[in-house]
Amino acid sequence: MALLVVGSTGTLGRQIVRKALNEGFQVKCLVRSFRKGAFLKEWGAELIYGDLSIVESIPLALYGISAIIDCSTSRANDLHNIELIELKSKYILIESAIKANIKRYIFFSIFNSMNYKDIPLIALKLMIEYRLKISGLNYTIFHLPGFFQGLISQYALPILDKQFVWITSESSLISYINTQDVAKMAIHSLSIDQFNQNTLPLVGNKLWRSLDIINLCEQISGRRAQINTIPVYLLNFLKNCTKLFQWTWNISERLAFIEMLSRGYNTSAQMKEIIYILQIDKKELEELEVYLQEYFESIMKKLKELNCQILSNEKNVNQIEF
Ligand SMILES: NC(=O)c1ccc[n+]([C@@H]2O[C@H](COP(=O)([O-])OP(=O)(O)OC[C@H]3O[C@@H](n4cnc5c(N)ncnc54)[C@H](OP(=O)(O)O)[C@@H]3O)[C@@H](O)[C@H]2O)c1
Repeated sequence: MALLVVGSTGTLGRQIVRKALNEGFQVKCLVRSFRKGAFLKEWGAELIYGDLSIVESIPLALYGISAIIDCSTSRANDLHNIELIELKSKYILIESAIKANIKRYIFFSIFNSMNYKDIPLIALKLMIEYRLKISGLNYTIFHLPGFFQGLISQYALPILDKQFVWITSESSLISYINTQDVAKMAIHSLSIDQFNQNTLPLVGNKLWRSLDIINLCEQISGRRAQINTIPVYLLNFLKNCTKLFQWTWNISERLAFIEMLSRGYNTSAQMKEIIYILQIDKKELEELEVYLQEYFESIMKKLKELNCQILSNEKNVNQIEF
């Protein structure tokens, strides 16, 4: 089966590509920069030029493809293109998939999206979900919570760097998941008919509050976090202010997303159906404790090596001077 991965350079996309290659799929990656996608080529994928903001480039990428996995989403620096990337280009991708008789189509949306229709980014996701549901394609929509990988810049790095960690006053419970686990299950789902025309949640096995994650990072790293709490009413105020200026639309979108998280995710919906269909044990999903432990250990090791290198360089310089 030849796969087209859209958004292959992203956090989730690259894991999808790696897993698919490991499983023996022929993988084509739609990229807008061959330089940026060079690592995917090194892994064994084929690069095809395509830019979601240049919609004419989309249909050409589908030649010889039998399944599409769309992991793309607009980047922070593409703020004026959000509607073009999240809606128009994805409509065209779906239309092209129908014409090309694509056998499987995977799309990633946000966990609990139905409850947040008033948030612009989620509203666009829901429109794509609806378009897929009436397309006649064999689609699977996975509803995802936050990723482990996003917690590094949000919590781990500021703690290591002695910067402020920002949290909202109404800290909600989120069942974060590793993108490697998402990739594993998404690729596995391609060969199982029960995923056809199905919408399912893909969540981690434990609920986390911001403060729990901060405590965990502190315990593992041995460093104290400097926490700044921002009240939700202030977030809303900022959101309304930033909406006045088009150039800050992206900030307002991001704040809306934080607001959505602060309203509380109800992650009580379990992955029972997926676990049952894939016949896996939920314990196979990576735990956040293990992920963060490995992250901090590798960072501390690198810092130690760097310190040793600096000390030995200083020693050499001193020897030269004397
Ligand atoms: N991150 C989360 O916590 C989270 C939570 C729930 C759901 N999701 C969903 O999961 C999916 C993957 O998210 P992610 O965090 O992995 O995304 P990401 O890291 O931000 O990656 C976005 C991908 O989209 C590509 N892209 C953006 N604009 C493009 C354009 N004009 N033309 C071609 N490609 C373009 C990017 O390519 P470039 O490298 O060229 O920019 C990149 O490969 C998305 O559907 C997202 O909504 C994410």
